[in-house]
Amino acid sequence: MKKKIAVLASGSGSNLQAILDALDRGEILDSEVVLVISDRKEAYALERAKRRNIPIKYLRAKDYASREEFDRKVVCLLEEAQTDLVVLAGYMRIITPVFFLSFKQRVLNIHPSLLPAFPGGHGVADALAYGVKVSGCTVHFVDEGMDTGPILLQEAVPVYDDDTVETLHERIRQLEHKLYPKAINLWVQGKIKLMGRRCVINE
Ligand code: GRF
Repeated sequence: MKKKIAVLASGSGSNLQAILDALDRGEILDSEVVLVISDRKEAYALERAKRRNIPIKYLRAKDYASREEFDRKVVCLLEEAQTDLVVLAGYMRIITPVFFLSFKQRVLNIHPSLLPAFPGGHGVADALAYGVKVSGCTVHFVDEGMDTGPILLQEAVPVYDDDTVETLHERIRQLEHKLYPKAINLWVQGKIKLMGRRCVINE
């Protein structure tokens, strides 16, 4: 049986696109994207999914009394779709512990910095402002903290003197598009063993 992946996205969805393209090329094996959920109606990620006839769902935060209630609805949709793996791809909400009752160690995120440096919503800008010479991206399991879960894969890019937030983010995005599909494939192939905080990969 194919592994069922659900993607949560708030923005342009270029990582979602990279995952779909990797599935097409057979770089992620025995898997399919069964659902895309967004908290933003205008998220281009929804359009990308629609074009591929992937079921989409938009949830409006103000329709829910609390963040927990919102997440209970998300979890309910994920369970209905029999989701094996939840992939956060530019999802701008902090997920609540409600999630982990059902999806412990089954939620991945990609972050545009070399964690634990520069967590949070402005990783690229913070790294640039700090003056680092190398940044990159991190695929990690999501836990209760802010970008604190065990690291699955990480790769670096140089930071140039004339970089802006946009140029640096674009360089990082190009790398994300390779790293995220690779990490997802490792997960669906059962090649990741979690030993405390350390992810051991059995290639
Ligand atoms: C990526 O840079 C990712 O690291 C961050 O949000 C961005 C999403 O980009 N979490 P996109 O919507 O996939 O293009």
